Amino acid sequence: MDKMKINQYVSFSNIIQGFWRAKDWQWTPQQLNRYLNELVERGITTMDHADIYGSYSCEGIFGEALKLSPQLRDQIEIVTKCGIILPSNPFHESSGHRYDHSKEHIIQSVDRSLQNLQVEQLDSLLIHRPSPLMDPNEVTEAIKALVKQGKVKSFGVSNFNKSEYDLLSKCLVCDKLHITLNQLEVSPYTLDAIENGTINHMYKDDVKIMSWSPMAGGKLFNLEDEKSARIMAVLSPLAQKYNVTSNGIIIAWLNKHPASLMPVLGTHKIERIDEAINGLKVSLTDQEWFDIYTASLGHDIP
Ligand SMILES: NC(=O)c1ccc[n+]([C@@H]2O[C@H](COP(=O)([O-])OP(=O)(O)OC[C@H]3O[C@@H](n4cnc5c(N)ncnc54)[C@H](OP(=O)(O)O)[C@@H]3O)[C@@H](O)[C@H]2O)c1
Repeated sequence: MDKMKINQYVSFSNIIQGFWRAKDWQWTPQQLNRYLNELVERGITTMDHADIYGSYSCEGIFGEALKLSPQLRDQIEIVTKCGIILPSNPFHESSGHRYDHSKEHIIQSVDRSLQNLQVEQLDSLLIHRPSPLMDPNEVTEAIKALVKQGKVKSFGVSNFNKSEYDLLSKCLVCDKLHITLNQLEVSPYTLDAIENGTINHMYKDDVKIMSWSPMAGGKLFNLEDEKSARIMAVLSPLAQKYNVTSNGIIIAWLNKHPASLMPVLGTHKIERIDEAINGLKVSLTDQEWFDIYTASLGHDIP
C-alpha cells in the first residue's frame, strides 16, 4: 500500500486502523496481536488512538498486544490524541466533562499514553477537539517541549475548523512547528468538512486529512435510515460494476478527492479491511462520484 508523507520523519499508510471501539471487541492480547500482524501484512501500518478511548482503556489494551510482537513497533505508526477530560477519568480529582489544552495537561496526557501504549515515542499527537478556552501559546509551549524531548514526531489537530486551525497554526509557525494533520469526520454520509471549506483550507496549507468514521460508524448500512438508503441505492450497483463491496466503493469515493483523504476504519473484521483495500483499486468516474454526493445531499447540484 502507498504511503502518505506527513513530515520528514513520518509517513502514514493510505488506510488507517482506528481503535476507538477496541474495548467492545473483548479480545485477548493474543487476538489483538494477531489482528495487528494481519493489518501490517496488508500494509496498514498506521494505528489511531486517543487517551480517552474505551474510558481510558484502549491504549492499554493495544500496548499489551504490541508487547507480544516488539518487532512490530518499528513497522507501525502510532497516533494518539489528548485534550478531552471525561467524567470517568481516573487521573483528575475534579470530575466533569470539559476540554483541557493547558501545557500541563497535554504533557501529562502524552506521558500516560506512552506508558499505556508501551512505546517511547508517538508518531503523531493530535489535539482531539478545539476548545473555546484554548490558548494557542500554551499548546505551542507543550508541543515544543514534547518535540524537544523526542516524545512526538509530528503534530496535528482533530475536528478543527478554519479559524481554530488558523489561530493555532499562526502561533506554532513562530516556533517553526507545523500542524501536519487534521482528523475530520468525512464520509458519503457526512459532507460538512467538504461543504464548509475546511478540507480546502487544509489542502491549501498541505495539511493531510484523516477521515474518521468513513463508514459513518456503520450507519450507512442501516437501510432504515432514509439518507443511508438513498446513498446505498447508488453504491450497490457501483459495487457490482466494479466487483467490490459497498465498503470498497466508499473508500474509492474518499480516495477520489484531490486532498487524498486517509480513511480511519473502525472495523475489527479483517475481511472488511480487505474490502476497503480493494476499493483503492477502483477509479470512479466524476459522474459516479457526484451521484453519491447528490444522493447524500438529497437534491441535485445547482
Ligand atoms: N477524531 C475524532 O473525534 C474521532 C471520532 C470518532 C472516531 N475517530 C476515529 O475513527 C475511527 C473509526 O471510527 P468508526 O469506528 O466510527 O469507523 P467506521 O469505519 O465508519 O465504522 C465502523 C463500524 O461500522 C461497522 N461496519 C463496517 N462495515 C460494515 C458493513 N458492511 N455492514 C455493517 N456494519 C459495518 C463496523 O462493524 P465491524 O467491526 O463488525 O466491521 C464498526 O462497528 C475510530 O476508531 C477512531 O480512531 C475519531
